[in-house]
Amino acid sequence: MNCDITDPDAPIAPPEPPLVSTSQLGGQRFWTVSRHADVLAVLRSPQFQSVSAEERIGRIAGRAGQDFGNLLALLRGTMIFQQDERHQDSRRRVRALIEEAIARWPAARLQAEARRIVDALPAEPGEVDVLPALAEPLPCLLIGETLGLSPALCLALQKRALAVTQSWLSSTALRDLVRLEAEAAELRTIMRANYAPGWRIGRLAEEGSDDAIDTALFLLLAGSHSVAGTIAAALDILARQGGLQARLRQDRALGAGFLRETLRLAGPLRRLNRRVAMVETEISGARILPGDLIVLPIDRAHHDPAVFAEPEHVDPARQGTVLLAFSMGAHVCQGRVLGAQEAEAMVLAVLERFTLRPGRERGALLAHEDWRTFCRLPLLLGRVDAGAEASLPTARDVAGSCPRHCPDTLDHARNQ
Ligand code: HEM
Repeated sequence: MNCDITDPDAPIAPPEPPLVSTSQLGGQRFWTVSRHADVLAVLRSPQFQSVSAEERIGRIAGRAGQDFGNLLALLRGTMIFQQDERHQDSRRRVRALIEEAIARWPAARLQAEARRIVDALPAEPGEVDVLPALAEPLPCLLIGETLGLSPALCLALQKRALAVTQSWLSSTALRDLVRLEAEAAELRTIMRANYAPGWRIGRLAEEGSDDAIDTALFLLLAGSHSVAGTIAAALDILARQGGLQARLRQDRALGAGFLRETLRLAGPLRRLNRRVAMVETEISGARILPGDLIVLPIDRAHHDPAVFAEPEHVDPARQGTVLLAFSMGAHVCQGRVLGAQEAEAMVLAVLERFTLRPGRERGALLAHEDWRTFCRLPLLLGRVDAGAEASLPTARDVAGSCPRHCPDTLDHARNQ
């Protein structure tokens, strides 16, 4: 059975008490914290800080005698790795841009743009890769406008910035870092070439500083890839659980709850950035020492039966639970309201016009241990009418095609 991180149906290991593993590098201890309550405690506590990939790559660059200056600059602009003053400054500047974006994109405009994207497809589209056709356009339009970039440039840059996130992973080899440094250099050159006085991106740092470019590239990724990933995941769930389509068409007010369930079961991040313990502390009875690293697989925490009754069940009416998909604490997502509204507007616009069914070929996820986002997702789109509704697949129909057990993937998840 072909079962790997690109398989959207790979099972997710259940949460368990903190699991320790020791890395080969200097015996550093890694804890996998996957119970919902434990993940929340780590995220909310100032005793844990986000870890930057910059230190590790700086060390590799020094040992190999390589100059990874562009890659390191992009990592410094990546807000989830930032600390202290630079982080506070970035958050203040990004907040101002996002507040403007929210004002420029009220619900009515989001809905109108979402309908325009849907209306660009033929009346009976048949099989369509919904990623470029439906998931990517709205987030690219919005973040492009927010940063003052055309949607086409935004999409191209976003794809390249996404490739550079390979450098976030501790497993990235030196030869890959050399390639990613070249990519980072090109990305920064393109951004500089697009610079114009009064450019919105210039507001992300001191005037004329490259820091603005580096933060903008992160924002572009955070603000569009996550949303596109959420829209695609929502369409995938709907295609595989036809009953939900009818339910949402009948009661659009369930849209927000359905998006929350999508983020819980198939959100764009499998795990959050690593945290490091700053002081000795305890999690679920385990003694955590200063310097220990904490891995946070939120996909597992989102299946915690102690918090979510029938965790596998998609329940748009589910209430009273804390979602971890936008993180918590110092690095909580600044675009969570906007992102959720965009995804909801797009999904409801699709349901107004089309029915969704699984494509002939199953879609695939990016081969990335942090992102859980599709790189292609063919779905069958038909016109909404009573006949089509009647023959839509139920959860039971598609469950038969899911791998039920995948030891490789479980081991893989435990070892992160
Ligand atoms: C549904 C879509 C989205 C999801 C699931 C999402 C998820 C996340 C998560 C999990 C983090 C923190 C990662 C960590 O703690 O390791 C984060 C950070 C961030 N997100 Fe989002 N995001 C979404 C949409 C957006 C949008 C639309 C924007 C901007 C327009 C945005 C801007 C940011 C920023 C600036 C940060 C960095 C916060 C910091 O480190 O202080 N996000 N997002």
